[in-house]
Amino acid sequence: MVMPENGHRTHGFSSAFFLDSDEIIQELNLKGNETVMDAGCGDGHNAIKIIENYNHKGTVYTVDVYCASIEDMEKYKRENNIENLINIEADITEGIPGVGDESVGVILMVNVFHGFKASRRQDEAVLELKRIINNDGKIAIMDYKAWDVPKGPPTQMRSSPEELESLFNSHGLKMTYLNEEIGEDIPEGKSHFLIMFEKE
Ligand SMILES: C[S@@+](CC[C@H](N)C(=O)[O-])C[C@H]1O[C@@H](n2cnc3c(N)ncnc32)[C@H](O)[C@@H]1O
Repeated sequence: MVMPENGHRTHGFSSAFFLDSDEIIQELNLKGNETVMDAGCGDGHNAIKIIENYNHKGTVYTVDVYCASIEDMEKYKRENNIENLINIEADITEGIPGVGDESVGVILMVNVFHGFKASRRQDEAVLELKRIINNDGKIAIMDYKAWDVPKGPPTQMRSSPEELESLFNSHGLKMTYLNEEIGEDIPEGKSHFLIMFEKE
């Protein structure tokens, strides 16, 4: 368990410590009224920033399999009277209850997707993300480059953008955006990539 700056508990390492959430959120080009989901939210700092600093009026979902993350998000919601925030404890690969088909405009996943490779549940994850995005919705995945570097998950858990593109293509989703110059500055270059998919 990790306690990030906002005091929320997280299962895994909160990217609040080393990624610039404004850099990530600005990639999403939010209009303010979309339904947004921070999937694998951890401490929820990206969702909280979207609500607080980007004045988002559309529904914001947070989803995490770790119950303490969702308990903390519920506490945050109560204490701050955030009506447009919905927090759901769920395993994305098993389905997200209460989220209708084609109901989400933007899904953000930061440092989460590599876990599905490790658990061999990538197809299940993509199918669930595809189920919930609407027809012009987008799935934004930011993850570690597939480099053999000390910081981050083991190399065999990482995927290249090309591998993700092939996986999503196999489920009828097309790549619409790729930024390979994002994240933390490490000696080898920028640590992450951000890739977006939409329905074909
Ligand atoms: C490394 S943390 C990243 C958290 C957050 N996105 C961030 O950038 O700080 C990965 C998060 O994904 C969640 N997670 C992993 N597998 C999941 C799954 N199958 N369904 C939902 N959440 C999952 C973990 O509980 C953890 O909170």
